Amino acid sequence: MHKDVERILLSPEEIETVVAGLAKRIDEDYAGKDKKLLLLCILKGSVVFMGDLMKHITLPLEIDFMRVSSYGADTKTTGNVNIILDLVRKDINQCDILIIEDIIDSGRTLSYLKRYLEFKGAKSVKTCTLLDKPDRREVDLEADYVGTVIPDEFVVGYGLDYDEKYRALPYVGVLKPEVYTK
Ligand code: IMP
Ligand code: MG
Repeated sequence: MHKDVERILLSPEEIETVVAGLAKRIDEDYAGKDKKLLLLCILKGSVVFMGDLMKHITLPLEIDFMRVSSYGADTKTTGNVNIILDLVRKDINQCDILIIEDIIDSGRTLSYLKRYLEFKGAKSVKTCTLLDKPDRREVDLEADYVGTVIPDEFVVGYGLDYDEKYRALPYVGVLKPEVYTK
């Protein structure tokens, strides 16, 4: 275990089970000729989750990416969502978009993105998150697919960072508070 991690919340094996379960539900829900499934990875935190999830989905799919920022270099949200990399597609009105997020905290990022993509004319917009911290919610938002609900603690690994570090850890772990209160 990394020296800055207090404890492991989800082991690689547990993550694998959760991801496979989500993919099975997505496979069932998006089956049908009239669907054009587009997995929309929200960079950077969701990149590991998305890579694993797409391998488990058996339906035809396309992938795309957006990058937004709502956090500074600490563990508190600013409440603002900025689009850093936008989704540019001519066929957006034919796409059934599934937004892939690493974690829902205040809910502001996903709530904003959902409205934004609907406004841009997507055929449908649903949301999928690996982790959910419902205790922290500031806006009314429930994801359509939730991997696991976790307590209100700052977590890193499996794509999630603190100050751009720890993304490559193969597990989700609770960061020692002294790392970000120093
Ligand atoms: P929200 O808009 O407050 O729901 O924040 C969602 C974003 O904040 C996620 O996509 C993450 O990038 C980041 N975030 C929230 N909680 C954590 C955490 O515990 N560890 C790492 N990043 C987090
Ligand atoms: Mg982040």
